This record gives sequence, structure tokens and C-alpha cells, in this order.
Amino acid sequence: MTDDLLLYIIITLMAGFILLRKLYIRLQLSQAKHPSLRGHAKMSRRVARLIPFFQYDKNQFFNSDGACADIIKQRREGMENLRQKFQQSTPEGLACNASLQSSISDVQFTRAYRVPFPYRDFLPEEFKVGSIVDETNGVSIKDTDGNWRYDVSGSYGVNVFGYDFYKSCMAEGFEQVKKLGPVLGAYHPVIEENVEKLKAISGLDEVSFHMSGTEAVMQAVRLARYHTGRSHLVRFCGAYHGWWDGVQPGVGNQRNTRDVYTLADMSEKTLQVLRTRKDIACVLINPLQGLHPNADASSDASLIASTRTAGFNRKAYTAWLQQLRQVCTEQGIVLIMDEVFCGFRLAYRGAQAYYDLQADIVTYGKTLGGGLPVGVVCGRHQLMKRFREDRPANISFARGTFNSHPHVMATMNAFLKRIEAPEYQLIYEQADALWNARVSSLNAALQRNALPVKIVNLHSIWTITYTLPSRYNWMFQFYLRAEGLELSWVGSGRFIMSLNYSDSDYSEVEQRFLHAAKTMQADGWWWQSAHLTNRWIKRQMLKDIIRAWFEKHHKPLADQQSTPLETALNPVTKKVQEQ
Ligand SMILES: Cc1ncc(COP(=O)(O)O)c(C=O)c1O
Repeated sequence: MTDDLLLYIIITLMAGFILLRKLYIRLQLSQAKHPSLRGHAKMSRRVARLIPFFQYDKNQFFNSDGACADIIKQRREGMENLRQKFQQSTPEGLACNASLQSSISDVQFTRAYRVPFPYRDFLPEEFKVGSIVDETNGVSIKDTDGNWRYDVSGSYGVNVFGYDFYKSCMAEGFEQVKKLGPVLGAYHPVIEENVEKLKAISGLDEVSFHMSGTEAVMQAVRLARYHTGRSHLVRFCGAYHGWWDGVQPGVGNQRNTRDVYTLADMSEKTLQVLRTRKDIACVLINPLQGLHPNADASSDASLIASTRTAGFNRKAYTAWLQQLRQVCTEQGIVLIMDEVFCGFRLAYRGAQAYYDLQADIVTYGKTLGGGLPVGVVCGRHQLMKRFREDRPANISFARGTFNSHPHVMATMNAFLKRIEAPEYQLIYEQADALWNARVSSLNAALQRNALPVKIVNLHSIWTITYTLPSRYNWMFQFYLRAEGLELSWVGSGRFIMSLNYSDSDYSEVEQRFLHAAKTMQADGWWWQSAHLTNRWIKRQMLKDIIRAWFEKHHKPLADQQSTPLETALNPVTKKVQEQ
């Protein structure tokens, strides 16, 4: 064999080996994705683009599950009762909402995305509105029509200790900096104490201030990339980290986000990817995912059947996060704990304490502002630095006009000082057990009354699940509202309870919750029949989507009795119906 030939064989073998290794690593990445559409960002975007709008007419609205005439009558009457109740009790709120909807895009969005879209247009106007409110007291909130409701919305998680707590943080904070006013760039001295407290709470060395949780996450990820010199961030399937498209590679993102890996939560295959890939700068954890690993934050707009899954196992999730911690340490990957939602709620030291973990960077926001908007990044010295000593032109520039606003610093200071008091430390110590017990008691009452509803909670954060197949679970949010519970626009997907709920307040909420469920059941929305399975419901929905797609794209086919795809699906549907 000539030397040239030998060299050729060696080079070919080496190239083959490198190629095979690359393929193997790519395969590992594919395997570490969650099998659902959520786990496949590109695919989910493509599918989302394909789904056409269609709506159920006034008959289908009530019988999309194939209910009989008696049940339909009950449902119609139930809905009319609710409508009249809303109309009579909230005329001012309805008028205000009507005038806002054409000018505030968020109002249009939340009006539209309260229920699954096929039911949206036939839903009476009175059901589509958010609240217009002007006062809070204890755990209650008053709308401009004078109705007091128990707040279970938690103001997106800002409200941890009750609105009165934040009112006094804001009053105290404003008083402290009133002589300075809105001076930016220079600091009010109050910032010093905040920094010391945040360092102690986070267990980290440095702090930077931002205007929102989204910005804090952007900065944390940017710093991780800057210091590791690596391109990719890993987020977990379903996890929310703010509205920046850099952490939302799936539906809703028009940009092709090539530098994000969405991997399966609680998966050994994910750990394997972290161990083998060299392009991962950071792993982003939202500690709330423990409540529903690999699933999106629940919203009633996607409540098509009773398939909302949730279940919290603190021990298992803690073990998973600790494994992640270990692998990140071994591989030099920055572990970012996004505590924007859970920080200062799950424990005084937040999710890090709750899950017994020390992250490299932690982001905070929401409640930490003491009632004002804020984002905070805490990190180790070497990760927080925005320039390099040895390469002066290589900087990571990030400021933000309103960072460290004196009023925000002062209300934050009031917040941080207040929660050190023994009474708040006691609340923290007792909260987990207290909310577990409260949820158990309500679940037992629901079960005793044979109501198809079950609450799953992580501490004081709930999601409502449904135990029997139904196409109408999203109606429950309106029955709850009619009973005087203030929900956010995601409906029964997320209840955020403030920690100042007394036993008597809670007992009132429990009674109202039960009453709402009983009324909804009496109105026939949870009607059951042998054919009605979650599978059947999903198939029906798929059929409706396919029909709407054909009607949109192949008009003439719409005139036929059934579309070719419908015909193809028919034997399957028939079989399901026969079961
Ligand atoms: C975990 C997490 N990160 C980031 C954000 C974004 O925070 P903000 O809405 O203040 O931008 C949120 C908001 O809900 C969040 O829950």
C-alpha cells in the first residue's frame, strides 16, 4: 500500500468518524425533545399557521358534544341567567370595556382568548370583558359598579402578601424619595441596602436592575452567552420566561430562533445533551414548571377537552433540578433560575431555598418591586461583568433608561425590609403546608359532591383540572365570576392566591367555588354520555379543523356532503361513536 493511499484511508476514516459522531449528537438532541408539538418549536409554528378560524353556530355552541335537547335547554337557560347577572351587576364596566376594545390591543386579545376560538363569536358580549376596578381591601377587589370580588388572580403573581401590603410599601417608598423625584443615572442611597439584601437572599455577588422580568431574563441570557462564548440557551418545554422572542421559539414567534434548544423537562436524555454538546451557554429554569412539567401555563382558551394535566411532586422535581445543577457545573453551563414568578413567594429565599439549589444567575421581578414594575438579575462576579479587562472593545452593553428608578428602589426597600419581620417569616414557614391543606379540603368537598373538578397546586399557585370528559370546562370561569371570584383572563388555568388569605376568607372562597361547580353541573355543561371521551372530543375538533381548512382552501369541496378527509376519518369516528 502506498503512503498516499494509507493517508487517504486514514483521512476518510477520520472524516467518517467525525460525521458519525455529529450525527449521533444530533440524534441525541432530537431524542431529548418532548414528543408533543410544544417540544418542536418549528413544527408547532407550522401547525399553528395551518389551523383556520371557524366558529360554531348558535346550535353547535350548545351541542358540540352531541348532547340531547333537554340538556341543550338547560345550558341555554344557564347561560342566559349568567348573562343577565353580568349585565345587571356590571353596566359601567361593560360600557368602559366596549369603549376600550378598539383602542387597546391587549383588551382585544384577552377578550378573544378567554375560550376556545370556535365558541368565541357566539359568546355573549357580557362574557368577554375583563374587570374595570378602582379599590382593593384585604383579599378583595372592587369594580367600578361597586361589586366586591375575592381576588384569585394575584395580579400576575405580583400580589404575594395582599394589596394593602403593597399600598403601604408604595406609600412608604414614595415618602422616602419624594425630595429627589425621578432622577435617573444617579442613584438614591436607598439602593445600597437593596443590593446587600438581594445578595444575601440570592446567595450571589452582584446585582443589576431592570424594568421588567422579561428584561431581566434577556440580560441574564445575554451575559451567559457573553461569558461562555457559546451560542445556545436551553429552555424546557412549556416554560414561560417572558415575552421576548429569544425565549419563545414556538407559536407566536415569527423570527427563526436558531439559538434556542427546547428540551424535555425531567428527562435523562436532556442531561445527556447537556453533557455532550459544546454550544450550550445556559440552562433556563422556571421553577413553576414543577407543577406541570413539559406543559404550557394553562389557559382556558386551549381547554378543548379535559386533558389539562398537572401534578406536583416536590421531591422528584427537586432531585431533577439538583441533577441539572450537577451537570451544568461539570460542563461549565450557566444555570439561570428564573424566579420572576416564584421568587419571594415559595420561600423567603424563593425557589432556590424551596428546591435546595444554588444557581449561577437568578432573575427576580414582579412582587420584588413592592408594587412597582421591576426586573433584577443577581449573579456571580465573573458572570455579571459587562466588559473584559484584557479586551477593552469587547463589551456587553446593557442599561435601560428607567433602571434603578428612585421610587422603585424605595418601594423595593420597603418590601425587602418588611418581609424580614418575624410575622412574614412565619407566613413563609407555614405557607406550603397551609395551602396544601386548603387545597386538599376543597378537593375532598368537590369529590364528596361528585363534581368533576380537581385543583392541583404548587404552594399557593393553582391550576384547575377536570376529571370527566367535557367540551365545556371553559364555562367554569364564568360560573366562578358569577359567584364573586376575580380570575385573570386565563380563567381556570391559573389561580394565584395571596398569602394574606385568612381561614374565614378562604372558607368563603371554598363555598363559592363549590357553589359555582354545582350550578354549572345543574346547568348541564358536564353532561356525560358513553361516546363522550377526551379522544372523541379531540377527534371532533380535528374534524372541524379539517373541514374548515378545506372550506377555506378548496371551496367547491365544501358543497359536498363530506370532505375526502372526513370520509377517510368516518370509519374511525363511527367506531368511536359506537364504543
Ligand atoms: C418566570 C417568568 N419569567 C419572566 C416573566 C416576565 O416578566 P414580565 O412580565 O415582568 O416581563 C414572567 C412573567 O410572568 C415569568 O413568570
